[in-house]
Amino acid sequence: MNFLELKDISEHFIELINPFSTKKAFEIGDVLGLKPSDCVIDFGCGYGEWLRLWGERYGISGVGIDLRQHACERAQKKMGDHGLGGQMQIICADASRYAFPEGKFDVACCVGASFILGGFQPSIRAMKKSIHPSGKLVMGEVYWRKSQVPSEIAEKENFHREVDILKISREEGFEIEYVVRAS
Ligand SMILES: C[S@@+](CC[C@H](N)C(=O)[O-])C[C@H]1O[C@@H](n2cnc3c(N)ncnc32)[C@H](O)[C@@H]1O
Repeated sequence: MNFLELKDISEHFIELINPFSTKKAFEIGDVLGLKPSDCVIDFGCGYGEWLRLWGERYGISGVGIDLRQHACERAQKKMGDHGLGGQMQIICADASRYAFPEGKFDVACCVGASFILGGFQPSIRAMKKSIHPSGKLVMGEVYWRKSQVPSEIAEKENFHREVDILKISREEGFEIEYVVRAS
């Protein structure tokens, strides 16, 4: 059994695969000002819960990409069960290789999954290509909770401090509009 198979089993009763709540997902949707004409792409969409929540509340359409067949089948079924099958497309693929349409999306989302696109900064660069010039990104990123991290620990993980997340976002031409912390 590999790690991804173990996830399929252990996440049986989990919809959002992050320490996050539905309430916070809606908080972000409100800040984004999502509306029915918006189209969202979700990299590493898991069980499609972000798209489902936003589809039901705001009427958006979307594309979710995940590597795991089990996750994609579950997400696709969920969309159908919730009457969203016609507006959500779930693609089973390695997001780092998937040729998504460029400049098309209003929002690109990657929550707890930036590792699939090579880390935080490479993810911003890849996701930037998917949105139109006034599009927005939603990034769920781990960070060091202390400003001083011992180097022997820091060098083992490709995590950033919060201040670096802000700096990198600006370097890539984005301003941070809102922050919600995981719980
Ligand atoms: C921590 S989960 C986050 C899921 C979702 N964003 C959420 O918040 O519920 C990370 C997801 O990335 C997927 N994943 C891992 N490697 C991937 C890859 N190369 N391409 C696409 N998805 C990948 C996993 O299958 C898993 O569903």
